[in-house]
Amino acid sequence: MSINYSEKIPNNVDLGSDRSLQRALEHWQPAFLDWWGDMGPDGTASTDVYLRTAVSVEPGGWAHFDHVKMPDYRWGIFLNPADADRRIPFGEHKGEAAWQEVPGEHRANLRRIIVTQGDTEPASVEQQRHLGATAPSQYDLRNLFQINVEEGRHLWAMVYLLHRYFGRDGREEAEALLQRRAGDQDNPRILGAFNEQTPDWLSFFMFTFFTDRDGKFQLCALAESAFDPLARTTRFMLTEEAHHMFVGESGIARILQRTCETMVQHRTDDPAKLRALGVVDLPTIQRYLNFHYSVTLDLFGADVSSNAAIFYSAGIKGRFEEGKLTDDHLLKDATYPVIEVVDGKLTMREAPALNALNEKLRDDYIRDTVAGVGRWNKVMLKNGIDFQLTVPHKAFNRMIGSLAGVKVTPDGRVVSAPEWEAGTREWLPTPEDRVHVQSLMGRVVEPGKFANWIAPPPMGVNKQPVDFEYVRFN
Ligand SMILES: [Fe+2]
Ligand SMILES: [Fe+2]
Repeated sequence: MSINYSEKIPNNVDLGSDRSLQRALEHWQPAFLDWWGDMGPDGTASTDVYLRTAVSVEPGGWAHFDHVKMPDYRWGIFLNPADADRRIPFGEHKGEAAWQEVPGEHRANLRRIIVTQGDTEPASVEQQRHLGATAPSQYDLRNLFQINVEEGRHLWAMVYLLHRYFGRDGREEAEALLQRRAGDQDNPRILGAFNEQTPDWLSFFMFTFFTDRDGKFQLCALAESAFDPLARTTRFMLTEEAHHMFVGESGIARILQRTCETMVQHRTDDPAKLRALGVVDLPTIQRYLNFHYSVTLDLFGADVSSNAAIFYSAGIKGRFEEGKLTDDHLLKDATYPVIEVVDGKLTMREAPALNALNEKLRDDYIRDTVAGVGRWNKVMLKNGIDFQLTVPHKAFNRMIGSLAGVKVTPDGRVVSAPEWEAGTREWLPTPEDRVHVQSLMGRVVEPGKFANWIAPPPMGVNKQPVDFEYVRFN
């Protein structure tokens, strides 16, 4: 079904046939636009950006690219097509027909999951709203704005579910999603990583590589849900999410490329000299990686969680690629290894698999992440630089779950508080690192020009040249 853009709210859910829902969403729309004006990308009220807009949910041709004035972007509601025979793939209702409405007994948990997912979407837009002022190129600026508008659309996706299936509480939650603010003391966003700052483009690329990837894994788990509208909407969100992770992965690869070129050209690996040459030294990139990785691991929640067990057994939230797993999809007697701290040492123990589902999803995420870091390391190999980035131990710098009480080094040793204090300068971004990275941030917006600290991409967006005018400032 193609999407009709002459409607106030573009959609493929036949919104016009449900007048009261349509009215409720049309009432929320100006509040969303006010939020976008206040908290969306800074200073873009009259900026034309070469953006992709979803125009169908067909795998081959869902996206249309054109210059769009930012506030006129059409945020729409798109669900993947329904499969009338879809069965619940796991949990106590396994094999039964998927739910088209919310069962009363799971209403509170489903609402909480949808609100928590929905909250991350506007949060990241808020975190990134000042980055346009220091964009390293038009190409990068356009990618930032593309991600921002799509996170806005992901908020729409969750708000549609709240309005359509959760009545008055849903409408109240939808209002509250526009009222919380990333990093706000009094009314913060729900999850920790979404209250951190994204003060520079190194942080932005790390965020989109690591934290948008958390989004991918959460969405994959929700795409298995017995609640069919949630499964269908998250499946479509995943198509968009792939681009966000691409921006992060390729952004860091281009920073590494530029640093390596400079190291070769000047025959140095001295961070001080490299800083003076205007690039980001590799140990600083490692420290940023350590920070974003560990903060993102916490997003998966406690390693042993009774809620995780309830969500799975009820059919609300599945596992990553549930359909490819060959067990019984009930997990009643299964176990799964989790880390435990005994006498100040990390050991493994078997926990009930149902309670360890957060840990399982975190481990799936770690595998995906390690593969991505391996692709980054090829940049150093190709340039003949003897340095490899590594992913820290999963117990490093954790604030949630059983690891919150211990201090663990990137190589997995439990250390005392003084040792931790002494080591953090080596392991996590220092104030000096942040000042240096900040000092590199200057706005470069002439088409085809790039800031000194980042290499140009090998190709442009949607087969356009790299020096295409991606953004028009009016
Ligand atoms: Fe998103
Ligand atoms: Fe995203």
